[in-house]
Amino acid sequence: MNRFKMLAGVAGAAVVSLCMALPAVAQGQIVIKFSHVVAPDTPKGKGALRFQELAEQYTDGQVKVEIYPNSQLYKDQEELEALQLGAVQMLAPSLAKFGPLGVPEFELFDLPMLFRDREDLRKITEGDIGQSLLDKLESKGIIGLAYWDNGFKIMTANSPVVHTDDFLGLKMRIQSSKILEAQFEALGAVPQVMAFSEVYQGLQTGVVNGTENTPSNTYTQRVNEVQRHATVSNHGYIGYAVIVNKAFWDGLPDDVRANLDKAMAEATVYANDIAEEENDTALQAMRDAGRTTFHDMTDDERAEWFEVLKPVHAKMAGRIGADLIEQTYTALGIE
Ligand code: LMR
Repeated sequence: MNRFKMLAGVAGAAVVSLCMALPAVAQGQIVIKFSHVVAPDTPKGKGALRFQELAEQYTDGQVKVEIYPNSQLYKDQEELEALQLGAVQMLAPSLAKFGPLGVPEFELFDLPMLFRDREDLRKITEGDIGQSLLDKLESKGIIGLAYWDNGFKIMTANSPVVHTDDFLGLKMRIQSSKILEAQFEALGAVPQVMAFSEVYQGLQTGVVNGTENTPSNTYTQRVNEVQRHATVSNHGYIGYAVIVNKAFWDGLPDDVRANLDKAMAEATVYANDIAEEENDTALQAMRDAGRTTFHDMTDDERAEWFEVLKPVHAKMAGRIGADLIEQTYTALGIE
């Protein structure tokens, strides 16, 4: 056994959760385990790969980034616990998944019919509101490094979901967000929280009847193979916060952290640049596959959905904060 393997073995045996959070500098190389739940061929998957490439390049190989996609290591809820324990160092969970961490304010991003386009999103993620949300993570032992885009959601089911009353009684899979729960309740559906890795099977076996997601997630999880209908509704948004274990990050040598910050800044520009096109391509691929009937929402239908879904904002103000919602309206120029 060579010295490296021996040391690694000894360290592995002796590790406790607190030590795991600290950078493995003693072994010469710092390892960042980056866990996520989506396919490599998605905006987040590609962003992670770009960060890996740049981080290793800018640190001359001193940092090694190991990416574990597709819930290979942990599912939704587990990965947040693993980050806090230091079993992994980096994640990019959907903004809809921060409630169980004790920061429900991120569910602001789940409010239906709020963001009209990516420009609206940028006003929040690149402004004071976005930063103040990331700052709330510190008390949880987490540092928020960046926001990464995915995109706007489509609705899918085995029956048409064009009008609001089409949802009546449908069991709809949701991410773990109370806002999404309220959204589907407003539509008369029965929301059901389910880990992302279980969605395909849940739909295939009929545990749930439908779901909402971005085209890239829908396509790469083959959800279109088990859903006969889809509405391109763009009624809500999915994006991510890239987060790291605070003890790990603070324990890095200053020069290494600076290089990783640079890599993250560039990977963020890249991820946000490709997200829209990735989703457009996935949507087209699903249309071409022909297994699902796609309906493009009309202006009248949007008005109908708006009337049913907009009240969710006021209803859930207690959870997110009425002030935060007001500030967001102001930033977006909404009356
Ligand atoms: C989902 O659970 O539907 C998404 O949050 C998955 C992801 O990370 O995009």
